[in-house]
Amino acid sequence: MKVDVEYLEYMWPMRHFLITCGDISDKANIIPLSFVMPVSRQPPLIAIAVGRTAYSLELILQTGEFVVNVPARDLEKAVYYCGYNSGRDIDKFTETGLTPEPARSIRPPIISECAAHMECKVVNEIETGDKYTFIGEVIEAYADEEIAEGKRDLEYAKGEFPRIIYGTRFMKGK
Ligand SMILES: Cc1cc2nc3c(=O)[nH]c(=O)nc-3n(C[C@H](O)[C@H](O)[C@H](O)COP(=O)(O)O)c2cc1C
Repeated sequence: MKVDVEYLEYMWPMRHFLITCGDISDKANIIPLSFVMPVSRQPPLIAIAVGRTAYSLELILQTGEFVVNVPARDLEKAVYYCGYNSGRDIDKFTETGLTPEPARSIRPPIISECAAHMECKVVNEIETGDKYTFIGEVIEAYADEEIAEGKRDLEYAKGEFPRIIYGTRFMKGK
């Protein structure tokens, strides 16, 4: 017998990324996203799907810029904290202790503690159901030297399924 399920749970585990948006000198914010995928090599393009109610949506619409920061496992606690709270109510950098650092070419900061960073400029936007999908062109991509040179492995953050956020449709009784 087959039963209906929340489809997202069966796409797990997914990698999590910490997207930074806004401006380093004003309203910089962090939103964890799992709905992140490369959609072209040349030019290098990344798609991110941002919830319609997220504060980060407003910020990305304002600046047309975002950074995809790659967190290792040691940042998982911060990933979940940033994913269960909104930048409308708190300063996520202050609350998590993560360090904003100027990006090379765009206004949002990078997160120093992350292993790699892709600076993106929005080239396209698509409404996709309850999300707004941005296609960003990667204009800068860089990583910690030890990782880039293969001297240290990166253990990616890919924690528990965030049931509170996604797992609501067919989860009665769980
Ligand atoms: C592990 C994890 C993955 C998430 N992935 C997404 C995602 O891909 N898209 C999305 O819209 N929200 C995602 N969220 C939820 C947002 O991070 C959450 O709504 C956040 O509080 C929005 O913050 P903001 O209001 O400061 O923008 C995820 C949350 C967690 C914990």
